[in-house]
Amino acid sequence: MTEIIKLDKDDIDRDKLLYAAEVLKKGGLVAFPTETVYGLGADALNENAVRGIFAAKGRPSDNPLIVHIADKDKLGGLVRRVPSSAQKAVDEFWPGPLTIILPKSGIVPSVVTAGLDTVAVRMPAHPVALELIRLAGICVAAPSANLSGRPSPTRAEHVIEDLWGRVDVIIDAGSAEVGLESTVLDMMVEPPMILRPGGVTPAQLREIIGEIAVDPAVENRREERSIPKSPGMKYTHYSPRADVLVVEGNAAAVAAKVRELAAVFSAAGKKVGIMATDQTLNLYPSGFAAISAGDREKPDTIASNLFNTLRKFDEMGVDVILAEAVESTGIGLAVMNRLRKAAGYNTVRADD
Ligand code: TXA
Ligand code: MG
Repeated sequence: MTEIIKLDKDDIDRDKLLYAAEVLKKGGLVAFPTETVYGLGADALNENAVRGIFAAKGRPSDNPLIVHIADKDKLGGLVRRVPSSAQKAVDEFWPGPLTIILPKSGIVPSVVTAGLDTVAVRMPAHPVALELIRLAGICVAAPSANLSGRPSPTRAEHVIEDLWGRVDVIIDAGSAEVGLESTVLDMMVEPPMILRPGGVTPAQLREIIGEIAVDPAVENRREERSIPKSPGMKYTHYSPRADVLVVEGNAAAVAAKVRELAAVFSAAGKKVGIMATDQTLNLYPSGFAAISAGDREKPDTIASNLFNTLRKFDEMGVDVILAEAVESTGIGLAVMNRLRKAAGYNTVRADD
């Protein structure tokens, strides 16, 4: 049975959260909000509990989990060493949407790291996540709280939709602010390499720790890629039930192309959803199901709405989602990475 616990993140009811912390301590599964997306947590040092995460999500066992901590000092116990560049990143970006990969210590079970010699660690910036982990007094392994392959959950309703009956507790504390998962930074290589773009941008990282590489797979347009360094990158991801097609180019050309494609798909009997932006929404005839994901000039607004918008189209029962591409600058890099994956790398260019 799944219990739902509603909390106000600005005025946390400690007794309710203490109950969820007890469930975690006893080896149960608790979905909780973070500033990026909702996570599905279990005691990271309890192998059976961690296996429960993989079972609940239907997650392949070769895709490792991130260990969440509520106190920077806990990092030292999970890893063999903390290089100075990692320490700088931790000092600057934790708590926050940055996950670092370091050599794992002996206490981390291999089920967490999918047999790898490294472990991914992050300190989230959400008051409920931090307080939950502190009250439980453990390190919490947590992937995003969606069924494997589905868009990550940014609201408790998304978790309920995917994991109801599969987990013990779902904590509902409103929507996740960032809306996309953390940046995954591999610190085993020199220079450190971004394996997954996220809430902390390459520019922000460069400012603090100097040279940073970005895994070529991050911006790849096709599925035939080199052997992925982050095992999670090889799986289908973020997929709504509808087919997704990304349309790239300047805003006006994109809108024209989307209108043209929408007409073609409609004529073929498909129900079309259009993922627009504030700037283009009024360029689509009212007959089409168009939703703005946010402001083109403010990619963080699109990051925050992306997964929710994909799920909305599923609720509307559309067959095809035509999604406007946005610029890959700042957090736009992460937005486009998720959108391309959701589309299975199906993209067309509008302005040639
Ligand atoms: O924002 C987030 O990171 C969210 C919240 C809940 O914290 N969590 C999240 O977890 O997105 P998940 O499991 O959905 O994604 C973790 C990613 C996967 O792509 C996984 O392959 C990669 O991190 N990863 C984990 N451990 C790794 C390791 N040791 N080496 C390389 N990649 C790793
Ligand atoms: Mg995930």
